[in-house]
Amino acid sequence: MIRSVQAAQRLDSRGHPTVQVDLTTDRGTFRAIVPSGASTGANEAIELRDGDNSAYGGQGVQKAVSNIRLVIGPALVQSGLKVDTDQRMIDCLLKHLDGTKNKSKLGANAILGASMACARAGAAHAGIPLYEFLRRESGAKKPFVMPVPFFNVLNGGVHSGNKMAFQETMIAPVGASSFTEAVQMGCEVYQKLKKVIVEKYGTSATGIGDEGGFAPPISQPHEALDLLVQAVSLAGYSGRIKFAIDPASSEFFKDGNYDIGFKDDKPNLQSSKQLTDLYRSLLQNYPIVLLEDPFAETDWDSWTEFNKECPVELVGDDLLVTNTKYVQEANEKRACNSMLLKINQIGTISEAIEAANLAYSFDWSVFVSHRSGETTDDFIADLVVGLRTGHLKSGAPCRGERVAKYNRLMDIEADLLGKGEKCLYAGSQFRVASKC
Ligand code: PGA
Ligand code: ZN
Repeated sequence: MIRSVQAAQRLDSRGHPTVQVDLTTDRGTFRAIVPSGASTGANEAIELRDGDNSAYGGQGVQKAVSNIRLVIGPALVQSGLKVDTDQRMIDCLLKHLDGTKNKSKLGANAILGASMACARAGAAHAGIPLYEFLRRESGAKKPFVMPVPFFNVLNGGVHSGNKMAFQETMIAPVGASSFTEAVQMGCEVYQKLKKVIVEKYGTSATGIGDEGGFAPPISQPHEALDLLVQAVSLAGYSGRIKFAIDPASSEFFKDGNYDIGFKDDKPNLQSSKQLTDLYRSLLQNYPIVLLEDPFAETDWDSWTEFNKECPVELVGDDLLVTNTKYVQEANEKRACNSMLLKINQIGTISEAIEAANLAYSFDWSVFVSHRSGETTDDFIADLVVGLRTGHLKSGAPCRGERVAKYNRLMDIEADLLGKGEKCLYAGSQFRVASKC
């Protein structure tokens, strides 16, 4: 039984306020802290910010905090709903308490914090780890599959101060034999990458972006990928580590064109066709296995056209916003073959699971993601295992809020092995892990 729900304004990794929830039951107090994005999709659930410029430049979340204290908390306590068995009803209650389509009344940040804290409490009441609780909620089968970590080691776009338009360039150790080995491989490449950057651009170029990846003075995707090829080879992992790109192209889509010089002094406008040619050549020349948001959230035709020929995982982030409505639409339009899952895009855990299961029903992949504004809350580590998605991105192997998820996943792997539970590493099967 839920006894009380407290909330407070705390900070995310960028120094912006975010929502922290403490939910108390007769078994203890369970905490959740909510993440926040920078390159947000237009159709994401609404993050409630105070807009009061006298505090935190308007970024405060005191309204969301008081919505938890005054509305969400009392409703959860009065509902009598049980955390171990009623997650779906709890999330349904939260959704109806808000009553808007995009959770703009109470704020998706307030609602998500409550939903996450309930799931944590639910796992404790059921006497099981959170990943097992989430597995039961989602209906995923066993054995557990450990994900391939996609490390975003080069930061661009709105996540860094360099001229690189493309937001994320990731390395994926698909050739590891376990999650723990994949982390080691990723870290070793990250350190080699730092050396390569120092040699090429000097020590002042080793500053990092919002997700812990380096942000050297490069502007073109092939420059980023060349740095990765070199670092992977120096670490001795050529062939065992693949690449992924998230241009986050909605950020530089203007009047029907893509301005890949949007962070440079002069524009560099590309049509959808030209951008497609660029992707084609990158896919031909580098071991890329995943492409996320290559086109803007409104440029549906380009998605559909590219999906006809795309040989790799094509992930919709801003396009889908973890929302069954857009997942359904994208399937009808044959726009992509994978859904990015960000819990705060939709605002409750049950709805995120529903979106993932809908994506699976279309034989798509599901790729779990952190946000650029993160916290040390490691909820998504359990989520990726519980939903058997086979891969996740949580930034570079650097900075507390990023490594919190990787560390938790190593704990989960050790926990499963220690219990003698069968546990697979997704490896090169990351796209179809749900079916392994
Ligand atoms: P965001 O970026 O968290 O800043 O929205 C992540 C992404 O685009 O995948
Ligand atoms: Zn993205």
